[in-house]
Amino acid sequence: MKPVSARDFFIDTFGSAPHHIASAPARVNLIGEHTDYNGGEVLPIGIDHRTHVAVRARTDRDVSRVASSTHESVGSFDAREPARSGQWWDYVAGVVREISASDARVPQLDIAVTSDVPAGAGLSSSAAIAVATALAIGDLLALGMSAQHAAEVAWRAETGFVGVPCGIMDQFASALAHDGSALHVWCDTMRTEHVRCDEHVLIFDTGVSRGLRQSAFATRRDECARALVAIQRHHPEVAQLAHASMAAVNESGLEGVLRKRATHVVEENARVKQAVGALAESGTIPGELLVASHASLRDLYECSSPELDWFVENALEFPGVRGARLTGAGWGGCAIATGEAEALSAAAGPLAASYAEQFPHSARTWVVRPAVGARIEE
Ligand code: GLA
Repeated sequence: MKPVSARDFFIDTFGSAPHHIASAPARVNLIGEHTDYNGGEVLPIGIDHRTHVAVRARTDRDVSRVASSTHESVGSFDAREPARSGQWWDYVAGVVREISASDARVPQLDIAVTSDVPAGAGLSSSAAIAVATALAIGDLLALGMSAQHAAEVAWRAETGFVGVPCGIMDQFASALAHDGSALHVWCDTMRTEHVRCDEHVLIFDTGVSRGLRQSAFATRRDECARALVAIQRHHPEVAQLAHASMAAVNESGLEGVLRKRATHVVEENARVKQAVGALAESGTIPGELLVASHASLRDLYECSSPELDWFVENALEFPGVRGARLTGAGWGGCAIATGEAEALSAAAGPLAASYAEQFPHSARTWVVRPAVGARIEE
């Protein structure tokens, strides 16, 4: 069945055509995990699963309405003073609030959302909806909003309004990704650069929902902050954890869990630089880097799961698969594998089948290439 277009869905829901439509993709991160909120580097790609947001201003109502083709409910909020509802449209309402606070007053709106981004899989469906909303409203108000500004608005909505303590990677990836490139982001300065990327990527959704993810994520952020304070006692010049050297970590006297977290962040950041160098040279990333990243996330950052570990171990058994690792926050969600396109396609079915025999979950798989980031559609 052909998915419904945002334009048609808008017309079905609100009775006439939208004025502006923007779209933004989901993302996977190739390497650089849990480095973004430590001032480090990340290397995500956009993928060809997108969220479309269609908008029209309403001068005849004092409420905004928001409908989604994947949720039954039609939400509403007051664009003059958006309040958090705990519902899926908080991402939309949060963007409205941020634009009103920083750019221009947003009128009441009708908004329709369609998406083929798998929700809850850790592929940043929330960044996709927030970024697409920001761009669509930016276009409606003729703000000349850049993709980077849309990413910043979306990030502020997610952290400040919805209340998720995420770093900037997901919104930057969704807003700024390019076809055929990975996006190298220096999260301390928000500098970005596109690096040629010829990789095909197998995404394997373990079907294990977030559960722990929110609380464990907040705990890790706190551990990283404490590790930084300990390092700064000896090295006050280290402004962010990802900037520390292993020598500084060693001299700080960090032990136990805090030492493990700091070691992961410092070494993972170095792996991003190596991956970027390899991409620039050959368009591909050595598999060992992904495997080392996974081992570090499993053993030092302790955010893997038996399902993610199973995938990495088993994917690497297939000829033509080069590397594999968990991607995104961890604690369930998705893992990726890289390698020859045919090898990845051939591995997907058997991996999913044998996964279903091992675990009480069913996996979903996709083979993707780096896809274009957010854009105005009409
Ligand atoms: C989640 C967050 C990102 C990033 C990753 C881990 O996806 O939203 O900002 O911290 O986890 O790399």
